[in-house]
Amino acid sequence: MPLLASADVNRVEAPVTAKAYMMCAFAAFGGIFFGYDSGYINGVLGMDFIIHKYTGKPFSDRGNADVWTLPSWQKSLIVSILSAGTFFGALIAGDLADWFGRRTTIIAGCVVFVIGVILQTASETYGLLVAGRLVAGFGVGFVSAIIILYMSEIAPKKVRGAIVSGYQFCITIGLLLASCVDYGTQNRTDTGSYRIPIALQMLWALILATGLFLLPESPRYFVRKGEMEKARHVLARLRDQPYESEFVQVELAEIIANHEYELLLRPQGGYIKSWTDCFSGSLWNPASNLRRTILGTSLQMMQQWTGINFVFYFGTTFFQALGTISNPFLISLITTLVNVLSTPISFWTIERFGRRPLMIWGAAGMFVCEFIVAIIGVTDGHNPQAVKAMISFICIYIFFFASTWGPGAWVCIGEQFPLSIRSRGVALSTASNWLWNCIIAVITPYMVGTDKGNLGPKVFFIWGSLCVLCFLYAYFLIPETKGLSLEQVDRMLEETTPRTSAKWKPTTTYAAEMGMTEKGELKAEIVQDVERRASVTGSVGRKGHSSAEPKGDTVV
Ligand code: BGC
Repeated sequence: MPLLASADVNRVEAPVTAKAYMMCAFAAFGGIFFGYDSGYINGVLGMDFIIHKYTGKPFSDRGNADVWTLPSWQKSLIVSILSAGTFFGALIAGDLADWFGRRTTIIAGCVVFVIGVILQTASETYGLLVAGRLVAGFGVGFVSAIIILYMSEIAPKKVRGAIVSGYQFCITIGLLLASCVDYGTQNRTDTGSYRIPIALQMLWALILATGLFLLPESPRYFVRKGEMEKARHVLARLRDQPYESEFVQVELAEIIANHEYELLLRPQGGYIKSWTDCFSGSLWNPASNLRRTILGTSLQMMQQWTGINFVFYFGTTFFQALGTISNPFLISLITTLVNVLSTPISFWTIERFGRRPLMIWGAAGMFVCEFIVAIIGVTDGHNPQAVKAMISFICIYIFFFASTWGPGAWVCIGEQFPLSIRSRGVALSTASNWLWNCIIAVITPYMVGTDKGNLGPKVFFIWGSLCVLCFLYAYFLIPETKGLSLEQVDRMLEETTPRTSAKWKPTTTYAAEMGMTEKGELKAEIVQDVERRASVTGSVGRKGHSSAEPKGDTVV
């Protein structure tokens, strides 16, 4: 059966039905992993039972804050080992997602994660707890890198930003759940204090894996593999349209034509080449693979540089050090709540105003708040009224983060890469998020520790200055991708610079350019060529099982 194609740029996608929307939005649930896992450990490390268990100190020492704590090396190892696991997990996941599929890799991530959680829950010794976190970290790495890829690839273009923002929303819910569960178990003097928050995570893995098992694979993965029939089946399911639907045919034709275009431009090679491809091209060309990889990895780095995790990881200690706060836990809970409640605003704004304005003005809002906090802190830091003002501005700062850079960074990395390097590009960018997350977690205590840098509120001058860099970064480097299909993003990057990107409008389709017959069908050679290449390279340099010969009801 021939595959209809269209030269009309507005006809490339089916209307979004509620079912199609819900199917794509479900994957956002993976964010709960990310948030919960980064959140629960801080509470657990401060629990009396854990301190007693791993230091052997008697409970009677509890009142003495100087001795009643885990040694710094233990805290640092247990926090950072997860990021180490996630860093490598994310990198490996990029390969797995191309070999076995996006969905399979996420489900595999859930299984690895559950093994890690079982080890941690069973742990009676520090060593096993660390090992369990390393294993769980690999799982989180798989899930966090590939969920973004999967969601960006399956979502309809009109709501892609909103759907990926849903992932960030789930991260914030995960963080909130973690602090609530920690709060509920912190005073227990048995192993339930840490086992309950740890074991609960298995539930997230179970829900995500079961849901994904029922959801379709990404059509773009099948196109990469040269399996056009399967691509068409899953696209029809995802768009909630019949298999024969014109919308499905036209969208698929566009994905295939774009992939063929990419392959002509940058032929695929072996495994090593598939990695070196991520760094090919000129630094000065916004459409080059190198530029896109730098953009994705640096974007995640900048997101961490906003200083958000200073508030979430060290907020409690920071507020305690100000001296006038009676219940630092409550303040932490409030900051976490502000984070949750502000994120949904982005579902609307990211599609209404676009990615660029959100990132530019979000950075501006953040640096203004951070400088105000720093100035109040250094001038009047111990006056209770001033402290209240600082907390208010920290909350406004979180509002800006949660409604702009929080979701925006994830949305942008899902949209930047061409199909040929997308899985690796997104994986590298996610790994960068974890790497910088880890670096900040390790160095911040040295910046603010009273026996170390003792910066106190002055640390907000540093975060404020870094946010000024985020502002400039967003203005000069982030392109506008709102409302474009992933294939149109490719074209836009070739024809514009980030600053002029918002004005760009698609004028042609890849299908029209690569070859449409007079009857408005995609030329058979294009599909055959993509299939042939996939069967030769296995898409990633392996001998794949892709079908050079379309099975059953052929597409062309
Ligand atoms: C960041 C995390 C952060 C979280 C807070 C995410 O987008 O990557 O590091 O803890 O937002 O909501």
